[in-house]
Order: sequence, then C-alpha cells, then structure tokens
Amino acid sequence: MQKRYPEISSPTHFISMTIPTPCAESANEPSNGIDYLIRPIQINDRERIIGLFKHLSPENRYLRFAHAITKLPDDFLDDILHLDYKKEMALVAVIQAQTESEEIIGISRYVTPPNRGLCEFSLSVSDAYTAHGIGTHLMLDLIAHAKENGLQAMVGYVLSKNLKMLHLVSDLGFRITNPDDDPEFKIVTLDLEEKSS
Ligand SMILES: CC(C)(COP(=O)(O)OP(=O)(O)OC[C@H]1O[C@@H](n2cnc3c(N)ncnc32)[C@H](O)[C@@H]1OP(=O)(O)O)[C@@H](O)C(=O)NCCC(=O)NCCS
Repeated sequence: MQKRYPEISSPTHFISMTIPTPCAESANEPSNGIDYLIRPIQINDRERIIGLFKHLSPENRYLRFAHAITKLPDDFLDDILHLDYKKEMALVAVIQAQTESEEIIGISRYVTPPNRGLCEFSLSVSDAYTAHGIGTHLMLDLIAHAKENGLQAMVGYVLSKNLKMLHLVSDLGFRITNPDDDPEFKIVTLDLEEKSS
C-alpha cells in the first residue's frame, strides 16, 4: 500500500513560495460558544502549531499521525509553514488568547502528490475544543479551496478505529473504502468535480 501521511516523512518541498492570494477569512457564528476565525496558515505560526500539538492527547496524536510521536519534527514544521499554494493549503482555526495573541485550536491541510489531480488531507482540533463543529468547518473551507484550485478529488487515510473522524467525513459526503492490504486504515474519498447530469 502507498505510504501514508507523507507530510511526516518526505523531504521538505517548498517549491515556489508565494504568499497566498488574499484568502477570505471565515468567521464563526459563535452560536457554539467559541469565537474563532479560520484563516490560512502564516509563516510566523510555528510556535502556535507547536502549541496546538501540545494540546493533543497522546491518543489524538496517534490518531492524527498514525505514530506515537512526542514532538513535531522540524522538517514537518518547515513543510507546513512554507507551502506551495498552487498545490497545498493549510487553514488554521484561531482564537484570541488571554495575552492578546492568537492561539491555534485546529488545522486542516492538504498536499498534492506529484502528477495527480487529487489531494490528501489531514485534520486536527485541540482536545479542549472538539465537538463544537470546528473540525467540520475546517474541512468545509479546505474542500472549497481544493475545488477553487481545480483538484478533482480529496482523499485521506484514516485509522479504522478513528470512528469520530470517519463519522465526520461521512457526514461531509466522503466515500469510505477498505484498502486491500491494510485493515488498520480506511481510505476516504470525496469527488470535487461537479458531475454534469
Ligand atoms: C477528529 C477531530 C478532527 C474532530 O474534530 P471536531 O472539531 O471535534 O469535529 P466536529 O465538532 O466538527 O464534529 C465532531 C462531533 O461534534 C458534533 N458537533 C458538531 N457541531 C457541534 C456543536 N455545535 N455542538 C455540539 N456538537 C457538535 C458533530 O456532530 C460530531 O459528532 P458525531 O461524531 O456524532 O458526528 C478531532 O477529534 C481530532 O483532532 N482528533 C485527533 C486527530 C484526528 O483524529 N485527526 C484525523 C486524522 S486525519
């Protein structure tokens, strides 16, 4: 089976670094009690991404990375902060922390394997902010970006025991299939192209 979570182990791939075209921020109606904003990741978000990771339990780190990791690798952080916006996107959900600086409470990201019209996504929400719709909101905005960038499909490799994530993507219309060779994972796929009837 293909390598999963390539963003963890592949060499850094900043190809052409461009600042994203002004990208609409997506405000949340604070009906869920949390006043957050979704915006593209910025180059100075490094410490905030590390902060988000520290707010994930060991179990949730495992569900996200499919490894028991205790620290984000530097090359992962470099990759995530230096995106090629033609092929990649990372959105963060932020709240205003007490110190008046922002705190990142969630992130969605896609990367595009070479020569393919599809992208691979990942998603994490800080433990203290789950079950408020933030993961769904991050995915919806990420899907909109992938469509705008002309990608044909979005896929993810989700651990079979990650029922919460499988439920979330199923609600968003992803198709869930079993890879032939690895029962530990499910492949989830969303077609991004409009089908003409
Ligand atoms: C899986 C994960 C991303 C979900 O994030 P989340 O922000 O809790 O997701 P949501 O809040 O959108 O949806 C989760 C549940 O909350 C419910 N919910 C959504 N909005 C809500 C609201 N306003 N109030 C209460 N509950 C709400 C949803 O219905 C959903 O319930 P369900 O599982 O019964 O369908 C998060 O738990 C996480 O980071 N897990 C660890 C990392 C991981 O597994 N990543 C996926 C691998 S790629």
